[in-house]
Amino acid sequence: MRIPLKSAAELGAMRESGRMTAEVLECVSEAVRPGVTTGELDALTRRVIAGMGAKPSFLGYRGYPAAICISINDEVIHGIPGPRVVRPGDVVSLDVGVYYKGFHGDSAVTVMVGVTDPEVVRLVEAARRALAAAVAAVRPGVRLSDVSHTVEQVVGAAGCSVVRDFVGHGVGRHLHEDPQIPNHGAPGCGPVLKPGMTLAIEPMVNLGRPEVAVLDDKWTVVTRDGKPSAHFEHTVAVLEEGAEVLTLAQRISKL
Ligand code: MF3
Ligand code: CO
Repeated sequence: MRIPLKSAAELGAMRESGRMTAEVLECVSEAVRPGVTTGELDALTRRVIAGMGAKPSFLGYRGYPAAICISINDEVIHGIPGPRVVRPGDVVSLDVGVYYKGFHGDSAVTVMVGVTDPEVVRLVEAARRALAAAVAAVRPGVRLSDVSHTVEQVVGAAGCSVVRDFVGHGVGRHLHEDPQIPNHGAPGCGPVLKPGMTLAIEPMVNLGRPEVAVLDDKWTVVTRDGKPSAHFEHTVAVLEEGAEVLTLAQRISKL
């Protein structure tokens, strides 16, 4: 395993692609409402990224046909945008990557559209808190599996389960770099985190059982038990002082 360390200049470029990723995600999140199709949200994603003078990281990656992954309800990740209409009660995960000046940003959020089911709220908040706790665990000297273990602890305490078949990853000049970042595992294992590492941490959390399947479209990952799933992701840099979240938006979103 070779984990690329980024120089100060490279981290500067990743701050730019990271901020753009966050701003795209924020813009598309605000457009998620009943009646919108996932294809319209993909078109919006492409417009916003092109308007920034950047490129979508996902389009064409291993043949992926869109700029964003939109995964609704029992879909865990990698949902392909199309004619599907967003409906009240849906839990919608948006995952986007932006490539700018040679570096990728990668981030995901899950938004609830008129959700009233308290179980779904519990799921989404567990996934959100798992990512926050994982980011807070990142600093030099910590081992990678300490981060994984943190996710598993938070998710388990909320009575939800962690998807084991997909993982987070290093990110930088390539969308997927070493190391792989599982969302479960015993603490104290794996590589020691060092300043200059840039990691995409992405808990995928199921309300029911952890098992998943891939649909015939070869992309969409769904829960086997049909229960809902949530996904959050940030691109994070390891600095001397601790973690810096690169995928945060600059503009003030809500007053
Ligand atoms: N953010 C996801 C990941 O990190 C999505 C990439 S898959 C793609 O793996 F094909 F859509 F690009
Ligand atoms: Co990712």
